[in-house]
Amino acid sequence: MNHILRRSAAALLIAGAAATAAAEKPAVITLNLDPSQASTVIPPEIYGQFAEHLGSCIYGGIWVGPESSIPNTDGYRNDVLQAFRDLKIPVIRWPGGCFADEYHWRDGIGPKEQRPRMVNSNWGGTVEDNSFGTHEFFNFCELIGAEPYLSGNVGSGTVEELAKWVEYITAEDGPMAAERKQNGREKPWKLKYLGVGNESWGCGGSFRPEYYADVYRRYQTYCRDFNGNHLYKIASGASDYDYNWTDVLMRRAKDNMDGISLHYYTVTGWDGSKGSATEFTDDDFYWTMGKCLEVEDIIERHDSIMTGYDPKKRIGLLVDEWGTWWDVEPGTNPGHLYQQNTMRDALVAALSLNVFHRHADRVKMANIAQVANVLQSMVLTEGDKMILTPTYHVFRMYIPHQGARFIPIDLQGVPTIEVPSERSATPRILPMVSATASENDGVVTLSLANVNLRSPYTIRIPLTPLVSDKKFKTIGINGEILTSKNVSDYNTFDNPDLVSTASFSDYKINKKEGTLSVTLPPASIVNLTIK
Ligand code: AHR
Repeated sequence: MNHILRRSAAALLIAGAAATAAAEKPAVITLNLDPSQASTVIPPEIYGQFAEHLGSCIYGGIWVGPESSIPNTDGYRNDVLQAFRDLKIPVIRWPGGCFADEYHWRDGIGPKEQRPRMVNSNWGGTVEDNSFGTHEFFNFCELIGAEPYLSGNVGSGTVEELAKWVEYITAEDGPMAAERKQNGREKPWKLKYLGVGNESWGCGGSFRPEYYADVYRRYQTYCRDFNGNHLYKIASGASDYDYNWTDVLMRRAKDNMDGISLHYYTVTGWDGSKGSATEFTDDDFYWTMGKCLEVEDIIERHDSIMTGYDPKKRIGLLVDEWGTWWDVEPGTNPGHLYQQNTMRDALVAALSLNVFHRHADRVKMANIAQVANVLQSMVLTEGDKMILTPTYHVFRMYIPHQGARFIPIDLQGVPTIEVPSERSATPRILPMVSATASENDGVVTLSLANVNLRSPYTIRIPLTPLVSDKKFKTIGINGEILTSKNVSDYNTFDNPDLVSTASFSDYKINKKEGTLSVTLPPASIVNLTIK
């Protein structure tokens, strides 16, 4: 079925449910959570980002060069630096993506004017001048306080090239360290996350899994731990539903890896139109929510394969590329993947992060694609202007979940609708409300998302297990909401705050009943901190 047919089918299935919801009083949903059940720590790295040499992600988005008239610190845009610091980005993956397997790191060190140029053949044939290289990336990570995650070139590189890159970055002494020092960096950097190839089944070399497993084993052998640095080695993993890739890699290389990646995009129509980022029907919207939630089934299946080989869950599943992928904005270079970002994207972000939380025992990192100006980005830039996207606001609202302990949630009475599934004749059940909670230092953070475009919902939460003060006298609640008049609203350089957060107070404590009732407007994300 092509995506047009799929979406027409969605119309039939959704119409009934939406009409019913609109006619009735808001359904009351019961949400139970007990902080004493909090267990798995949500790895902060689930809030990771991805920056590729693609379109204006690096050049223009992060890096403008020290000579630029755009306010900058050593070449990095000040507005973007601040936005990223505020987001507490734990880890950032670079230089690709597909670009990584054509990147030769030696081209990006030394005096800028002597750096060779190359054609970025994956992404629009743009000429890359290599002015943003290893030093620029590692210094950037230091400036925003993020852990670097390097994606190494396996497809068109050599074992020696990757081994020497690790040495150049992390060794205190020796020939590579001497070269680094000559290029202005005395102290080695720390490098934890090392990806050995990217999408090695595709743009990273078109490998078959058996062959890649052996290549992986060979490459990682020569990537050494220098001077107390300890590498966390990541094998290039599957795309979406390719369970065989995970099985073969685990069988043949599990003892040589700390993590394996997974890429999953909320996208349709790889061979044609993916749909506009900003103009979409209700049916398109619900289809997108269903497609985004499919990542949960996929994670569960990869996890169960991994568990067959690694029952103690030592090896992490790293969703190191995810997010929405729409048609590029009209008039922009099709190879630069520049797209707008609406409340629909914000809801995809919230639902996806909720899924990652639920699987935090296996999902040790996730990197949304990408941090600036590409796909589902955090910021968009134009000349000296920068705007924060609705997705940025979700990541900012969710900060308290980073490193907090996950609390399982029991939701009762959530209305559902059926949406067509990409992979099966059986429709997918889409719950209208999604929630996640965590505890840190006695503070519970509860994030709630309502994906119904027409109906509000009231969420009733028994307070007794939640707060120790049985009379609810000292309970302190802070609320914040992200919503907008239309789900297709987005921020522009002329109207940068159309979609942004506001304080939220549509909740009531019923002391007699011992409950907290929260009313979620249609298409909204609400964050509550409770102590
Ligand atoms: O994020 C854009 C591209 O999507 C990446 O370069 C590649 O790894 C994936 O196919």
